[in-house]
Amino acid sequence: MIWHTHWFQRFWDVVGAASVRVKVMGIVIGVIVLLGLFVGMQMRGVLYNTLETALMRQGIDLAHFVLERVDRTVEAGDPQALRDELLGLQDHYSGNGHNTLIDYVLVTGNEGEIIATTADQAAPVLPPVAPDTMRARNLVTVWGDVIDVAAALPGGAGELRIGLGEDNIEQIVQVVTTQIVTITLAMIAVGFAAAAFLTWILTRPISSLVEATRTVEAGDYSVRVPRWAKDEIGELAEAFNAMTRSLAQAERERRERDHLRANYIRGVITAQEDERKRIARELHDSTSQALTSLLVSLRQLEQTQDARLAQQRIGEIRSVVNNTLDEVHALAWQLRPTVLDDLGLTAALQRYIEDYQRRFNVQVDFVFRHLGERLPVELETTLYRVIQEGLTNIARHASARNASILLEGRPGCVRLIVEDNGVGFDAGKQMVSQKNLGLQGIRERVTLLGGSLTIESQPGQGTSLFVEIPLIPVAPDAQPKEVKE
Ligand SMILES: Nc1ncnc2c1ncn2[C@@H]1O[C@H](COP(=O)(O)OP(=O)(O)O)[C@@H](O)[C@H]1O
Ligand SMILES: [Mg+2]
Repeated sequence: MIWHTHWFQRFWDVVGAASVRVKVMGIVIGVIVLLGLFVGMQMRGVLYNTLETALMRQGIDLAHFVLERVDRTVEAGDPQALRDELLGLQDHYSGNGHNTLIDYVLVTGNEGEIIATTADQAAPVLPPVAPDTMRARNLVTVWGDVIDVAAALPGGAGELRIGLGEDNIEQIVQVVTTQIVTITLAMIAVGFAAAAFLTWILTRPISSLVEATRTVEAGDYSVRVPRWAKDEIGELAEAFNAMTRSLAQAERERRERDHLRANYIRGVITAQEDERKRIARELHDSTSQALTSLLVSLRQLEQTQDARLAQQRIGEIRSVVNNTLDEVHALAWQLRPTVLDDLGLTAALQRYIEDYQRRFNVQVDFVFRHLGERLPVELETTLYRVIQEGLTNIARHASARNASILLEGRPGCVRLIVEDNGVGFDAGKQMVSQKNLGLQGIRERVTLLGGSLTIESQPGQGTSLFVEIPLIPVAPDAQPKEVKE
């Protein structure tokens, strides 16, 4: 079977390389030519046979007739008169009124010797026919194809033979063949036009699709191809358009994501800078002030002789040191909640909330459920920061007495709700503005993890933050990187 595929391969190497136009035309014209050839041959054969059979029948009728006519002349035994009569008959039956061409008529004796003949050349010698019978057969003679009809003369006196030329048949077959060839040629012309039209229909949309594909490849997703017809190629065009539409959509989303990420990074950097400024100020304003006053107090203590006064100073110093320690603690806490690393999310949040309630006098109800084991680090940090920002906002803006937090694991995601019953704000208007980095920042954090943030708030109606983050985070780097600008 190897040669099989090998030959097919070689065939396809040649044929496959031809354009669709050539292929279609080749098939159409090949089929027409084959059909013409086949029909032509078949027609010729059938026609020839039919006409020949008819001619044989005609020859036999003619032989009957001639037999009767020449009967008496044969009996008279005058070869010259017989020949004249035969010539007359030949002339008569080869004339225009009859559709026959008689090449020879001859009469032989019972030994096979020729008694009279109309031909100047010898007809082929044939075996004698049985008495009272006739025989018709094909012969190739000096006159060409001939149907030879032989009839026994009555009383075994010899036989009569008539040679009917087949020229007429050949002529008719020739005419029909010419007609078939002409029709085939005409069909080739029609087939050529049809094939040209078909390939035009096929290749025009394909060419425009190829062109559009190149444009898309070059990064332009705005191309659309026209839908020429409601057929399969039209469907292909439709599918192509749908594909470029979704490519364009994906590209737009990618840009939005990039933009969001850039914004977020900028926001984070600014926030970090602000944080540093604040810490620097705090260190300067409060911690270094406290340390300076400590220095002063220590110097005074050095010079104090009175033991009681010294005791009092030491008490003051201790309280300053205590305060400073608290401040440094608070500062360190704000910088990085290490409890998250040590205790995990829920314990860290519990601690944060207890501290928050004490500091701001807001009652916080919280429910943590179905959280299972530890969540991915970045998810824990994000949830912690969202809750921190939400509670800080409540303390700063809401004037609320109560807040509630629901954090729960769901199949495939984590859901968080932070609510208060405070003054509320116009959430729609607020989110448009870019200068408040708190809510913007948590939205970006959440979006980076593939989640969503919804803010519901009306002035006077409290505020709710709804956050949902998938558990298999969509890493921003997982997005396709090919960027053609
Ligand atoms: N819980 C809340 N209650 C009332 N107003 C709020 C609340 N959270 C946010 N806001 C309003 O939305 C604004 C934007 O908040 P945010 O982005 O955190 O910025 P910031 O806290 O720095 O002002 C706040 O200035 C405040 O007016
Ligand atoms: Mg805020």
